[in-house]
Amino acid sequence: MSVKKRLIISMTGATGAIYGVRMLQVLQTQSEWESHLVISSAGLVNLKHELNMTRDELSELADFTHGINDIAATIASGGFKTEGMIIAPCSMKTLAAVAHGFGDNLISRGADVVLKERRRLVVMPRETPLHLVHIRNMAIVTEMGGIMFPPMPAFYSKNNSISAMVDETVGRILDMFDVDVIGLYTPWEGL
Ligand SMILES: Cc1cc2nc3c(=O)[nH]c(=O)nc-3n(C[C@H](O)[C@H](O)[C@H](O)COP(=O)(O)O)c2cc1C
Repeated sequence: MSVKKRLIISMTGATGAIYGVRMLQVLQTQSEWESHLVISSAGLVNLKHELNMTRDELSELADFTHGINDIAATIASGGFKTEGMIIAPCSMKTLAAVAHGFGDNLISRGADVVLKERRRLVVMPRETPLHLVHIRNMAIVTEMGGIMFPPMPAFYSKNNSISAMVDETVGRILDMFDVDVIGLYTPWEGL
């Protein structure tokens, strides 16, 4: 029996819902991966505002969707094996909760589990400009082993569309989990 690798995709109320959506779309094409989606209430607001998408439409892209307050969900326990979690996009509020182990919803609890089990946590923080607490919280999560991956476009790639810029970031993050990202972006090959 082949067991699929599980990846948690969490989406919060920071701008950039497209990043989480693209990650789910890519995972949908990969038979060996199983996606677990959690989206916050503010994330749903932005999903509607930025992409005109509903929760149901988003859920169709995921293998499993968990309620933000379902603290008894599989992914709330370390006994449920996953390859890790990506928070894309991550608000400063959720970043603060993750940095301080404040697991009051399934995103912050899920991240807490990933960190305590020493699994991979990739956080896509989205805010600008940053104040000291934002920076300190990023440092704390980094010290715990989390990876900060702000969505910063690489202009040397000469992408000519927003979707190409998004795919480059999505590709680089999913590549960290060894998801097949061929075609999403072209790695730098020198001048
Ligand atoms: C259109 C819109 C854009 C937002 N963008 C950001 C953002 O980029 N970063 C951020 O930290 N918060 C942003 N916020 C505020 C968060 O949604 C808010 O702090 C919320 O409480 C976050 O909750 P959550 O982390 O549970 O999703 C935005 C809100 C709206 C309505």
